[in-house]
Amino acid sequence: MLLLHLSDVDEASWAEQFAEALSPYPVVRRGDDFDPADVRYLFVWKPKADAFDGLSGLKAVLSLGAGVDALLKHPRLPDAPIVRFVDTDLSQRMSDYVVAHVTMHHRLYTRFRAQQQTRRWEQFYPPSAAETTVGIMGMGVLGQDAVKRLLPLGFTLRSWSRSAKAIEGVESFAGAETFDEFLGGTDILVNLLPLTPDTTGILNMDTFGKLRRGKLDGGPVIVNAARGGHQREADIAQALADGTLGAASLDVFETEPLPADSPLWGIENCYITPHIAAISDEQSGVRYFSGIITAHEAGKPLLNVVDRARGY
Ligand code: NDP
Ligand code: OXD
Repeated sequence: MLLLHLSDVDEASWAEQFAEALSPYPVVRRGDDFDPADVRYLFVWKPKADAFDGLSGLKAVLSLGAGVDALLKHPRLPDAPIVRFVDTDLSQRMSDYVVAHVTMHHRLYTRFRAQQQTRRWEQFYPPSAAETTVGIMGMGVLGQDAVKRLLPLGFTLRSWSRSAKAIEGVESFAGAETFDEFLGGTDILVNLLPLTPDTTGILNMDTFGKLRRGKLDGGPVIVNAARGGHQREADIAQALADGTLGAASLDVFETEPLPADSPLWGIENCYITPHIAAISDEQSGVRYFSGIITAHEAGKPLLNVVDRARGY
């Protein structure tokens, strides 16, 4: 039996689609009449405190989110394997966001918009794409898709991850000891890391101060599409004000929804989106997790299982 436990999304619609895809396999929601001991798979997003209570036969927790940082902090999370969402549609959406913001900053959008606002005609040439280095933190599923999309645009690319990567056209940096060197050649810093104790608060003033200066007019840029816990928002506000950063694109925030009194809302070179960089699409999600359940019920191993010791 599959149980759905989704907050802030249309659980009824997901349940209907799962029932259709998995039929005759039983699919239930909270409030339905079922024995919790019969639940083998739990599909979750933002689970409540009692989400796992009584699920003595649980085989796997299925996470609607690609990021599992919040799930891993659940005080009553059982020992069952956690399968996270990995999907080409999700990757494509995230890469759309990354390409849009990287290209916007490369072409000095902030500068030319300000010129337009004051009706000023002043020619100034952005560096070529090849002269602009995009540094991507996190070279997993999403980071690797993003470089695949950025490479044909001609950017110089570098990546930072825990283990070294051999991706053609991308200079790989691995481990904490290479972080400063990685930052030192980066003009546009894109964050696609998972949120773990090691990566919490990594987007801070110290990091910003180590980025390369002189290539992008106005200063280096950050793009954060991973988690709000990665960023120190007071540092971002200060760095945008004092020129340590030329601009920031932020999709995620320390507190979501971003409070109305956050100073970030009013900063001209701060580009805010409300955690929409990449949503888990219902059709793709149902296809992916139905495939996981069907294969596992047929005796095949689970895919994309979270490594709890690493935290992602
Ligand atoms: P993956 O697990 O596939 O990749 C994680 C990458 O980060 C790996 O390359 C890993 O290194 C690297 N990494 C982890 N810890 C460290 C560290 N301490 N130092 C250096 N590198 C590290 O994740 P995904 O690409 O699938 O997703 C990334 C994140 O994106 C998610 O965790 C989620 O928070 C966020 N996200 C945001 C969305 C949005 O709408 N804003 C939507 C979807 C996801 P290694 O390869 O060596 O293991
Ligand atoms: C995710 C998200 O982790 O939507 O999938 O942020």
